[in-house]
Amino acid sequence: MEEEKVLSNVVKLILVGDSGTGKTNLINVSVGQEFNPGVFTTTSCSYIQKIVKNNKKDYKVNLWDTIGQEKYRSLTKIFVKDANIVIFVYDITKRESFDSLKYWKKIINDILGDDLTLGVIGNKIDLYLEEEVKENEGKEYADSIGAKFKITSAKNNPKEISDFIEELLDIYLNKNNNNSNNRKETIKIKKMPKKERGGCC
Ligand code: GTP
Repeated sequence: MEEEKVLSNVVKLILVGDSGTGKTNLINVSVGQEFNPGVFTTTSCSYIQKIVKNNKKDYKVNLWDTIGQEKYRSLTKIFVKDANIVIFVYDITKRESFDSLKYWKKIINDILGDDLTLGVIGNKIDLYLEEEVKENEGKEYADSIGAKFKITSAKNNPKEISDFIEELLDIYLNKNNNNSNNRKETIKIKKMPKKERGGCC
């Protein structure tokens, strides 16, 4: 006989957005890794786990990096499944990446519906001299889709990114009735039949 025991909660958070907006770096710096100035295009979807404390409880937040490149979008769609929290990322120096958010939003809604916890990150604020998208535009868009908004820089503000993730987790947990709806990580405990148990009677 087997019985399920809840060990801890696992939350799936994905970052989506055009290629080069900084998704990989945002994830890396949020878990304490170094910012990488080189260009390494992501060609597969993977995650890094971040343990986040919320209300004295540890949550395993799996931070999924998706592929921004257009030719791999069908693959990205597969990894979007089951996400609890979605962060849309654009590059403040690339208007096109901001305009693409509507496309990404539609993909997310088509796959996951619209009862989601959402965030929007305008990344690369350290390059503000090359800014093509004003902060208020980003904020307006985020408000229009019910998302939390952050202008930041993976290069200069890792703490801000980490805090933003914690904030979104908090919103997600509050929204989901004291955590009852998030996915549970479970172990199976095998109950031994009585006759196999040790003891004298
Ligand atoms: P794909 O894997 O192609 O989807 O790209 P991505 O969204 O994961 O972007 P990635 O993190 O690989 O960053 C793309 C480029 O932008 C790299 O050269 C990074 O060093 C640079 N970059 C990322 N974040 C920042 C930032 O905050 N500031 C600056 N100046 N450059 C950044």
